[in-house]
Amino acid sequence: MRNITVIGTGYVGLVTGVCLSEVGHKVTCFDCDKEKISQLKLGKSPIFEPELEELISKNVKINRLSFTTNHSEAFKEAEVIYLAVGTPQKEDGNANLDYIFQAAMDISNYAKGNVIVVTKSTVPVGTNEIIKSLIQADSKNQLKVEVVSNPEFLREGQAIHDTFNGDRIVIGSSSNYAAEVISKIYEPFNIPIIHTDIRSAEMIKYASNAFLATKISFINEISSICEKLGANIDDVAHGMGMDSRIGTQFLRAGIGYGGSCFPKDTKALVQIAGEVNHKFELLEAVIHINNKQQIKLVTKAKERCGSLQGKKVAMLGLAFKPNTNDIREAASLQIANHLLIEGANVIAYDPVAVELAKKHFPQQVKFTSNLIEALHMADIAFIVTEWEDIVKLPLKLYEIMMKTPIIFDGRNCYPLREVNNYQMEYHSIGRSSILNLPKEVAYR
Ligand code: UDX
Repeated sequence: MRNITVIGTGYVGLVTGVCLSEVGHKVTCFDCDKEKISQLKLGKSPIFEPELEELISKNVKINRLSFTTNHSEAFKEAEVIYLAVGTPQKEDGNANLDYIFQAAMDISNYAKGNVIVVTKSTVPVGTNEIIKSLIQADSKNQLKVEVVSNPEFLREGQAIHDTFNGDRIVIGSSSNYAAEVISKIYEPFNIPIIHTDIRSAEMIKYASNAFLATKISFINEISSICEKLGANIDDVAHGMGMDSRIGTQFLRAGIGYGGSCFPKDTKALVQIAGEVNHKFELLEAVIHINNKQQIKLVTKAKERCGSLQGKKVAMLGLAFKPNTNDIREAASLQIANHLLIEGANVIAYDPVAVELAKKHFPQQVKFTSNLIEALHMADIAFIVTEWEDIVKLPLKLYEIMMKTPIIFDGRNCYPLREVNNYQMEYHSIGRSSILNLPKEVAYR
């Protein structure tokens, strides 16, 4: 068992630290955010993630997991240091590496003896080599350092599950010794390990995210063609996915991808390619398609209703996907902005993301944590996130609660044959619309 320090208690850092302590390592999580660390010391997780708080409390209690803002305390016994700080997007699309370089300086100043630095953060190809030279150049303690690129593939909302049940662990290193130590750390996870060089490991992360984003934009394009030709995207995706060469996952048509990874990493890879004079046209198209898809519901509503001026629009879901309160790059923000430009009155519902959204959405948007309140007397409903309570909502409630039950479903939550039993108008993605609105409640 190793003494491990994790720098950064965001999604990746916190989950990595907690899971490594769960399998028996002694883990110290370091962050300069004092508020976050004091909450974590009390067992409170800053992120909404199933099982996480239970595992934090359990491992803190048995002294395998601790949190600190103190550099000396964080690094004094560290044999292995995980870098899990953010690499946010700069305005030009490049990854901002300021936090990475700051962390490298901290290691250089405070770590002692021999350390292995493991980069979990998503960093452009070549960054780990810079990290190594930065640490060594500045080290006062004659530090001997090896670097390992070990990209992270966990999904928000399923982070603990994904960490213990990943498809692969990628270890990129030029040192056999470092690769062996890190492989050993992961032995209890029982997940296949791929060994490669540092640059290839860095590229595996970007290429994987870009490929998944490409699948999503591809199926979204097919869905637009299905709408025009009267085919059903759910059946098309099912039929395609049964081919094991294609696979069933990431073929759900919808309102595009959001979140903290795909939008940022696709743009960064276009930049990385550009730096070596390669125009990544396919990925540029993927990004462009996604931007259009995020506001697809507004486009459809305008086509159907003409003006949205003064209409009450219930926006159901704010998070970029269910089981998280994360609203980064969520379609909901784009949709809200466009609806306001069209003069609509927007009331937004989400079971967990309302408080966060209040800080980031335009003031004109009203919020509620009550689904029925959002639907009450609404002219139009937009389904933005496929939360379980939205998927399970009895369809009758749209009929009863809304002024005119016109629904634009961006996540294909309901089977068409079921919707057909109700007096509502229902438009989804890549499927035929259902137009069962009685004449007396027709949209005015
Ligand atoms: C993603 C990657 O899956 C993960 O491997 C990486 O480490 C981080 O980025 P995450 O952002 O948590 O994870 O969410 P994910 O479940 O992959 O969904 C991303 C976005 O794609 C969501 O907005 C989701 O709604 C959308 N999506 C996903 C689709 O529109 N269709 C699909 O079929 C799948």
